[in-house]
Amino acid sequence: MSEHLNIAIDGPSGAGKSTLAKAVASALQIRYLDTGSMYRAMALFATRRGVSVSDEAGLRTILDDADIRVQYDERGQRVLIGDEDVTDVLRTQELAMGASTVSAHPCVREKLAELQREVGRNYDVVMDGRDITTNVLPHTKHKFFVTASPEVRAERRLKELRARGSMQETYEQVLADIKLRDHNDSTRAYMPLRQTEDSLRIDTSEMTIDEALTTLLNAIAEKQDR
Ligand code: DC
Repeated sequence: MSEHLNIAIDGPSGAGKSTLAKAVASALQIRYLDTGSMYRAMALFATRRGVSVSDEAGLRTILDDADIRVQYDERGQRVLIGDEDVTDVLRTQELAMGASTVSAHPCVREKLAELQREVGRNYDVVMDGRDITTNVLPHTKHKFFVTASPEVRAERRLKELRARGSMQETYEQVLADIKLRDHNDSTRAYMPLRQTEDSLRIDTSEMTIDEALTTLLNAIAEKQDR
């Protein structure tokens, strides 16, 4: 078990996990690890090697070469494949779906979860993902399940896309995408997304980020004192 402060946040996509996790990290002056970006980098790596994200045997053959690294600089977390910084190309819908598919393979999860555990052993860190409370940091007392209704998540996602100048997606498409990813992530056989009994559930559907942040920080402080 880590001597460091490890905070685990799981939940479906678009629930506000990463915004909250970043805000917690900044309030506590500790690191933030976005584990989803590592699965996205894995999907990118497989695609570049011409291996389908659904091809378990193919993925096994390239896994040792998948040198996915995480570093920190003044911009925050950076994800590298070898020496190449790929952080800025990871946030596409294609790689989100690719990451969801690639993450179902146990060989991929084992590799990335071990890299994530190493960060937890070496640093005070907030991690968000789908299996942080169940698999990566199961021993931490700071566990959260951050969620929101699919409709609210689709609206938020659409706003984000529009803000980035992307106009072609419709609300219906974004909602369908979110539901498909929820289904994939929570029904896969190995390490599906689920809420553990000892996680505090925070539903952000009707909450502001500040309200959710206060709930999280209070819960962390309360357990730290014990
Ligand atoms: O959080 P995100 O949207 O960047 O994650 C992309 C996909 O990666 C998500 O649909 C499921 C997968 N993922 C996972 O299986 N386990 C994690 N700890 C993080 C992400």
